[in-house]
Amino acid sequence: MQPASEHHSQGGARLPRHVAIVMDGNGRWAKRRFMPRIFGHKHGVDALVRVVQACADRGIEYLTVFAFSSENWKRPSDEVSGLMNLVLVAVSKYLAKLQKEGVRIHIVGDRTAVSERVRAAWQQVETATAHNRRITLSVAFNYGGRWDIVQACRRALALGLHPEELDEARLNQLMALSHAPDPDLFIRTGGEMRISNFLLWQAAYSELVFSDCLWPEFGEAELDAALQAYAARERRFGGVPDAAPQALRA
Ligand code: FPP
Repeated sequence: MQPASEHHSQGGARLPRHVAIVMDGNGRWAKRRFMPRIFGHKHGVDALVRVVQACADRGIEYLTVFAFSSENWKRPSDEVSGLMNLVLVAVSKYLAKLQKEGVRIHIVGDRTAVSERVRAAWQQVETATAHNRRITLSVAFNYGGRWDIVQACRRALALGLHPEELDEARLNQLMALSHAPDPDLFIRTGGEMRISNFLLWQAAYSELVFSDCLWPEFGEAELDAALQAYAARERRFGGVPDAAPQALRA
C-alpha cells in the first residue's frame, strides 16, 4: 500500500500506474468453439502477452494478473494439470519475447503446493527478467487475497514484531505485492462482477471496471475502453472533492 499516484499519457488523459486484471472467460470462450477448456487457457496466455505489450506501449508501469487462484485446485484434475503444463509451455514460448520487451516478471502466491518443475520455471523467469525496467508483470499463481493477508501476518509474528510496531505500512511490506504501488485500476473480464479473492488488501481504493469480453478476445480496444472509463472517474480516497482542510476554509 504505497501512496496512490498516477501519471498522464502522451494524449494527456490520466493513466493508471498499476493495472490489475482478473482474466475470466477462457472456459466459455473454448466451449463456444466446442473445444476443451484448456484450449481457452492457451489462447488466454496469448491474450496476456498482447496485453502486456499494449500496457507497456501506453506507459503503464505495473500489470498484475490472476492466473491461478487458491480455489482453482477444485477444478477437474485434467484442467489443473493442463494449467500447470501451460506454465512450462508459456515460459518456453514467450520468455525471450518478454525479455526483449523489457518486462520484469514476479510470481506472487504460495509456491509450496506447486511441482518442482513449475517452481523451477518461476525461478527461471524471475531471475532472467530481474534487471528489466519497462513494465513489471506480477503473475498471481496459487494466490488468494486472504492467503496473502495471513502469510503477511505470519511473517510479522515470525519476525517477532510487537503489536505496536505493526501498522498498515509495515504489514504492506510483508505482503506479496510489496514491490508495487496499489493498483489504480482493477479490471475483470468475462461479465462477472466479483473480486473473487484477488487483491483484497491492495484494491481498497482501486477503480473497478467490468467487461463482458471473454479474456481470449481482450485486446488493445478493450484495454483502451477500460483506460477511458478510468480516466473519467473521480478518485477521492475517502475525501470530498476540492475540499480544503476545515481550518483553512474558516
Ligand atoms: C478464468 O477463466 C481463467 C483462469 C482460471 C486461468 C487464467 C489463466 C490464463 C489466462 C493463462 C495462464 C497463465 C499462465 C502464466 C500460465 P475460466 O476458466 O474461469 O473461464 P469461464 O468463467 O468461462 O469458465
